[in-house]
Amino acid sequence: MTMRLYNDLADLWPIVSPPAEYMAEAAEWLDIIRSRLDLAAGRRQRPTLLELGCGGGHLLSHLTAHFTAEAVDISERMLALSQRLNPDTRHHPGDMRTVRLGRKFDVVAIHDAVNYMLTAEDLRAAITTAAVHLNTGGVAVLAPDWLRESFSGPRVIDWTRQDAGLDVTFIEYVAQAEPGVATLESVFIFIINQDGQVKVELDRHTGGLFPRALWLDLMADAGLDAEYIQTQGYEGGFGGNLFVGVRRASRG
Ligand SMILES: C[S@@+](CC[C@H](N)C(=O)[O-])C[C@H]1O[C@@H](n2cnc3c(N)ncnc32)[C@H](O)[C@@H]1O
Repeated sequence: MTMRLYNDLADLWPIVSPPAEYMAEAAEWLDIIRSRLDLAAGRRQRPTLLELGCGGGHLLSHLTAHFTAEAVDISERMLALSQRLNPDTRHHPGDMRTVRLGRKFDVVAIHDAVNYMLTAEDLRAAITTAAVHLNTGGVAVLAPDWLRESFSGPRVIDWTRQDAGLDVTFIEYVAQAEPGVATLESVFIFIINQDGQVKVELDRHTGGLFPRALWLDLMADAGLDAEYIQTQGYEGGFGGNLFVGVRRASRG
């Protein structure tokens, strides 16, 4: 199923979720990364960062001053938005489960795009991608919106933002598909008011819902010393989950 928000509705992303709203989260990430990143002795250049599933590059836009960054996304439309916002960042089309850039980075981040891993095998593949792109001592940061233990639903969240001559109200409904099932179903409703002409657009997304222990186990399997950190989160109970892993030296 095509996710309209990342395709024909992509231009709504900077309106409903503007880059400025990611500043506090990026500052929190920087503190966490800096306290764990172990750059090889004697290295003087800026640390490098790869974001998988960069979306519009909104979080990334607050990190590019601190890292030499590259970014991957599966959607050409989202890559184009991020490229415009982050012109000095190299962008690559790719799937976080399979992409291999053939280079290693000091930090690999997967922000809320990791929500789109729907099975434990998808999640393992994305975590493996993060790990194989990390230097020894490098840091992986993964930020799912929800964990199995803490999700209770259905939930509804809404807000209105104005930009580009549009007044856009966004309503998200999210619920577990069935009790015990490892996926969440979201319905997005966009109410777009342009000079009193009101249009409504609908979109549906499916996301993964995994227990904390699975995240930590998959990260350990990928050679990461992993920990869970509870962070600020967004309104409505979204976010606030960070899995951070430091790449161990490979054995043998
Ligand atoms: C909510 S957006 C990310 C927004 C981003 N955090 C920002 O700051 O703008 C989620 C992104 O995940 C991307 N995505 C979904 N599945 C993916 C996959 N398998 N590989 C790479 N990107 C993926 C979508 O194309 C979309 O751009």
